[in-house]
Amino acid sequence: MNVHSIDRKRVTQTISHVNLHYPRAQDGEAAAVLLETAGLIRTQEMQLQQGGTFYRFTTNAHALNQPDNIVYLSPLPQAAADLFAAARQGLGIGTAKEHPAVAAYATAHAADPEFDFHVGFLLDSLDYLEERFLALQALEANDPRFAGRLKFLVNRALPGDAEIDARLDASPVYRGIARTTYGRNGVQAFCETDLLVDGPLGGGLVLEFDYIFPGHDDHIMAVSDGAR
Ligand SMILES: [Fe+2]
Repeated sequence: MNVHSIDRKRVTQTISHVNLHYPRAQDGEAAAVLLETAGLIRTQEMQLQQGGTFYRFTTNAHALNQPDNIVYLSPLPQAAADLFAAARQGLGIGTAKEHPAVAAYATAHAADPEFDFHVGFLLDSLDYLEERFLALQALEANDPRFAGRLKFLVNRALPGDAEIDARLDASPVYRGIARTTYGRNGVQAFCETDLLVDGPLGGGLVLEFDYIFPGHDDHIMAVSDGAR
């Protein structure tokens, strides 16, 4: 078949699913509560023979059975856990002979939570983004399952739009924040957790939450003009 005979614009291609993992069988419910608190909808769960629970979530509240916008969640498979453990041992992580690449990676990651693999969600309500982000912070503060396991960082919109600036000055999440997005007319919020282990070496994963202020062609996820 000649693939070029099909008009690309008549085909819809979306991201179907992301497959995430929690570290130990007993972390499953906490990881599931974390995703629910982040706004995802738990649509299925089943016990696995090898231990732990398999979960299906969707971001689509209007069509729970749609085959896209899915997040799967299950325990890290043993072979993957063994590989990560061997890699961490080989790098001497936590020892006096730790490979210098480890500290350099940690520094880069602390400065920019987006610099390697992460999962981003786009919301069309800043009120909801704020509500969910505050709920995640409350989990970390009040629920022992999450104490010390969630880290937070936010990027405010670049200043210059009076309406956006005023909205963010009144925001429980964004007021007083100096960090900004690279692009314009949007905000970002990040939650890093070690309840999900799909980062390099089985480390934590960053979840990102984005909001774009309506009515702007130039926004944080727009095609860049190359000048920034
Ligand atoms: Fe991102």
